[in-house]
Order: sequence, then structure tokens, then C-alpha cells
Amino acid sequence: MNCSKGEINTIRTNINKEENENMSMNYETLLVTKESGITTIAFNRPEKRNAMSPQLHGEMFDLLTELRYDKETRVVVLTGAGENFCAGQDLKQYSLEMESQPQRVRDEVREKVRRWRNEMLRTLPQPVIARITGWCLGGALTVTAGCDIAIASEEALFGLPEVNFGHFPAGETTAVLTEHLQPKHGLYYALTGKMMSAKDAERIGLISKAVPRAELDKEVAELAKCLAEKSPMALKAVKEAWYYSWYSPPDVAFEISNLISPRTIHEHGGRPGLEQFVQKKLRPVSGVMNLQKE
Ligand code: COA
Repeated sequence: MNCSKGEINTIRTNINKEENENMSMNYETLLVTKESGITTIAFNRPEKRNAMSPQLHGEMFDLLTELRYDKETRVVVLTGAGENFCAGQDLKQYSLEMESQPQRVRDEVREKVRRWRNEMLRTLPQPVIARITGWCLGGALTVTAGCDIAIASEEALFGLPEVNFGHFPAGETTAVLTEHLQPKHGLYYALTGKMMSAKDAERIGLISKAVPRAELDKEVAELAKCLAEKSPMALKAVKEAWYYSWYSPPDVAFEISNLISPRTIHEHGGRPGLEQFVQKKLRPVSGVMNLQKE
């Protein structure tokens, strides 16, 4: 069967529509909304302070796998339904009940947890903003660290209370936090189990910024809009260069940067942004390149 270009576009639109509907429908523990290129994911277990259950981990793994290929998503905002970001791992469903599961099931769930909370967030081509209110505890600090930018309400409280129930920040939490925090900061909270204010989280570099609760949504919306206007290829290149450099010795990081650079230029079909600057159509300090040229 031969289809006209118009028919093909209609089929594509219908497929996208169906995919988007599926994206929202299939998840019980996540709320997914899409608007103007910004996909917001909310942990959706407010009655359990959005603690992360095995089901939530599985759903987040699937959702991030889909979003990676979703051309409509230019920015991801990760938040919690209700007034809390996330109370960490579900201490009943994840920590206690998992013990009786077969080893294979435990391994599968743990692998998904490890993958989505850092590798998948970091390697997602779209930037990810954490929007944090209320409690942000235990494994939720790993999620915060895994997001590219984190904005919290000044009333939010962060902490590693594991020591208070005779444990420690397990899974990949300690590994991730030792990358992000200086030992005197990280160990202070891991050893004492004391809560950290959003201002302290900002001071030690766990989050990008703490803002008054009344300004949080405006701040996150402006940030997401600012990112949604950028070239998706440039944003992807920024993330790749940043994270690969972080994990590589300087000479390897330099080589990786040299590989990303020509690919980004090629994917843009040349250097339209630089041409726009030379033609005095763009001031990069206050504007963004015209994406129509891509
Ligand atoms: N795992 C499983 N369930 C949790 C949870 C967690 N991490 N955090 C909260 N919940 C559940 C509670 O068990 C309770 O469930 P119930 O209504 O069926 O009894 C519900 O969420 C509300 O919790 P509650 O303690 O009544 O609310 P609160 O607003 O007074 O306190 C917290 C909220 C988050 C401070 C408190 O629940 C808490 O300390 N949770 C443990 C946090 C933690 O140690 N996280 C680290 C995990 S690695």
C-alpha cells in the first residue's frame, strides 16, 4: 500500500498520540504529564510519602527507557505528588519483603534501581530537573544527585536516617554520594542521621538552589522553559561531555570532547548558531540560536 506524505504524517501523529496515552496509562506509581516539550514525572505514592517500592522502580525504569526516544520530550521534571519529594526506599516493600523473594527477582529489581537512579538519568539526552518539596530521604538523595539540576523549596528536609534504624545508606547511595559530597559533609549526615535544611543542601552542593516555597513552581517552570528552547543536540552534548569528563582522566576526557564536538556540529547540519552570531542575529549571552535552521 502506498501512502501519501499527509497520510504518513497522520499515522505518525496517531502513533505518537497512542504512545503518549500509553505513557500515562500504564503507570500506577508514577504520574506523567506532558506540556510544551516538558514531561513531568511525579512519584505517586503520597500516602507513603512517595517511598520507592519495587513496582515504582520497575515503572520508572520502563518510563525512562521510553522517554529516551520521545522526541516530544525536551526537558524532564522529576517531583513528588503531594507535598513530599520522596521518603527513600520503601522500608517494607523494598527492604523487608524483598528478602523473601528469589535471588533472581532481587537481583533484577536492584539492577533496575541502580540503573535508573543514576546511569539512566545521566545518559538521558534530555536534561532532568528535580523539583523538591517536603521530605527527601535516603535513596531519594541518590535520585537528587542523579538529576542534572535540583531546585528545592526552602522548607524541604534532606537526610540519611538509615543509621537510626541500624543500617547505612545502602545500594548505590553511598557510592553516588561520595562522588557528589565532600567527606566532611557526607559523613556528617550519614553518621548522625541529622536532617539537613535545603539551604545546607545548597551549601554542600547536593542541590543547585533553594527557593521560597511560593516561588518554587515559577522557578522550575522558567528553568524548564529556558532548557526547552535550546537545541536538544547541544543539551545532549553538554550532558555527555560533563559526565564522561567526570568519570575519565583529563586526557581521556579531552579525547571524548573531541569526538562529541564534530558529531554535534554535524547533527546541527553545520554551525548555524555561530553563523547567526557572525551575522549579528544572535547574542549568545542573552539569546538562543534560531532552531528553525537545524
Ligand atoms: N518506607 C515505607 N513506608 C514509608 C516510608 C518508607 N521509607 N516513609 C513513610 N512511609 C509510610 C509510613 O509507614 C506510613 O504508612 P501507614 O500510613 O500505612 O502507616 C505513611 O508512609 C505515612 O508516614 P508517617 O510516618 O505517618 O508520616 P509523617 O509525615 O509523620 O513522617 C516520614 C514522614 C517520612 C518522616 C516518616 O514516615 C519516616 O521517618 N519514614 C522513614 C524514612 C526513612 O528512613 N527513609 C530512608 C529509607 S532508605
